[in-house]
Amino acid sequence: MIDELIGYLRQEQQKGVTHVELDEGARQVLRGWVASKPVVAKKSVVTAVKAEPKPAEPARELVVVGNTNAEKIASLRQQAKDWPAFKALGSLREMMVFSVGNAEAKLVFVGEAPGSEEERKGEPFVGPAGQKLDGILKAMNLTRSEVYLTNVVKFRPSMPQQTTNNRAPTAAEMAVGMEFVKREIEILRPQCIVALGGTAANGLLGMESVPVGRLREEWHEFLGIPLRVTFHPSYLLRTQSSNSEKRKLWEDMLAVMERLQMPISDKQRGFFLT
Ligand code: URA
Repeated sequence: MIDELIGYLRQEQQKGVTHVELDEGARQVLRGWVASKPVVAKKSVVTAVKAEPKPAEPARELVVVGNTNAEKIASLRQQAKDWPAFKALGSLREMMVFSVGNAEAKLVFVGEAPGSEEERKGEPFVGPAGQKLDGILKAMNLTRSEVYLTNVVKFRPSMPQQTTNNRAPTAAEMAVGMEFVKREIEILRPQCIVALGGTAANGLLGMESVPVGRLREEWHEFLGIPLRVTFHPSYLLRTQSSNSEKRKLWEDMLAVMERLQMPISDKQRGFFLT
């Protein structure tokens, strides 16, 4: 009898029942079992009570506070750490990597998500792709402290048995990250945005799987701000790219420099032409 009861309760638990109500007859039987004096109840009733469904949490709104851009970005960073929609995905790692650089910058670079090096140092673009990006900035006569670097997704996407291997963020991860990127861009209102690679570009432009090759060489807009798409720096690393691929990326950067009315020397104009 006790085994039957336990079996019944387990079944109910699997259905989501969290407690049961007992009438006096059922209580007497249980008291008897506890006292090892079985009492045979005339008629006992155990009624399953379903758990009350929890009221759905209202969707949280991002709140931007602060006077300066740096303070406003800091308020976003603070909220991103335990942002429920990121957590609810269950597919991102714990360590947040938000953004780096100048919150007053005229030029913003947007990547896809941090990798293992970025996660270790808590800063975007510090691994091999970041070193390539530093080289690109140097060729433009810029430093990290003059631009703003961010990623659509603020946590490293997780994988089974993950060591230093990284994966691109999914559409769902990008959708959550875009809430933050929109606010970052609204705060900075830069003169120009560069999307690094197809994943970031598709996320920013609300597209799906459009290759970089089809998005380059023209101006797009994000929140009314001119946006240029170029290759992800890791593409150049992966492909050990020829001067012709480097030149394509460099032409994208020349277009950005022209847009920002930056001085461009003849030497800069000729980079990777041979
Ligand atoms: N790739 C990205 O897109 N972002 C980083 O921060 C590092 C690598």
